[in-house]
Amino acid sequence: MKQISVIGAGTMGNGIAHVFAQAGFSVNLVDVHYSQLEKAIATIGKNMDRQVAKGTLTEEQKQTALKNITIKTDLIEGIQNAELVVEAATENVNLKLDIFQQLDKYAPQGCILATNTSSISITKIAAVTNRPQRVIGMHFMNPVPVMKLVEIINGYATIKEVTATIVELSKQLGKIPCVVNDYPGFIANRILMPMINEAIYSLYEGVAGVEEIDTVMKLGMAHPMGPLQLADFIGLDVCLAILRVLQDGFGNPKYAPCPLLVNMVTAGKLGVKSGEGFYVYTAGSKEAKVSERFL
Ligand code: NAI
Repeated sequence: MKQISVIGAGTMGNGIAHVFAQAGFSVNLVDVHYSQLEKAIATIGKNMDRQVAKGTLTEEQKQTALKNITIKTDLIEGIQNAELVVEAATENVNLKLDIFQQLDKYAPQGCILATNTSSISITKIAAVTNRPQRVIGMHFMNPVPVMKLVEIINGYATIKEVTATIVELSKQLGKIPCVVNDYPGFIANRILMPMINEAIYSLYEGVAGVEEIDTVMKLGMAHPMGPLQLADFIGLDVCLAILRVLQDGFGNPKYAPCPLLVNMVTAGKLGVKSGEGFYVYTAGSKEAKVSERFL
């Protein structure tokens, strides 16, 4: 496999294009917004500079990798020779169903259609195509160039050959693949989100403060980041949306999002991306201070 298309050039799309290009694949990076494509190329360049400074990439390898990426705003043009498409557009069911209908119509017949969705059913996405056996979840972690895991999700109809190809490909990217089945939240978010929700409930009920909850989990469980800070990094709106998927998908009240999380999202306190969540983030500073609201 040589020719890959990545749909969506946001946080995840630029990382996915980065790792494929660095591994020698020819990548078409597609987004509806040209400005996002320009931003993505600048981000990839900056992230590769960091690798060069660390000595994990040479300047020459960086230049070759950057040349492997072509940017496109036209989806049909961006996928016409693709052997694999990895969709990493905005997490919205209707948007993804629409994109997959187009991918199915315009991508070459043998092309594998993968999605980086964190929570939408692979089986549901596959069902709008005429090739459900070639649709699969390829769930990278953020930041993609750094995180080793790729959670590979078999839809109900995904065939073994396709899973094997994606496993092999993930290894070629220097990643460690883990194959799971398509149930709400897959494995990563099914386990992570209830933990984050429980941390928020503990704060809401006054069991402990923000720093205490995060410190217990960091020092006691050897987590590199506490659950409340991790929620800020993921985005509180994203956490809420995934909990709703778990709640709807299983119909089990244990997944009901904590009212504090719902309130924070309604108030626009989304974590790092809005500058405030459980912590306050100042641009240019690496330090996070607990939000005054929780002191
Ligand atoms: P983002 O909001 O940073 O980027 C989404 C990009 O998709 C934007 O550049 C937008 O212009 C583009 N887009 C929207 N509609 C499009 C279309 N029709 N065609 C082409 N491009 C389109 O989102 P992010 O965070 O990169 O998430 C992308 C996917 O990755 C989502 O499915 C999300 O659930 C998943 N994901 C996100 C993680 C994260 O930590 N941010 C982690 C793992 C998965």
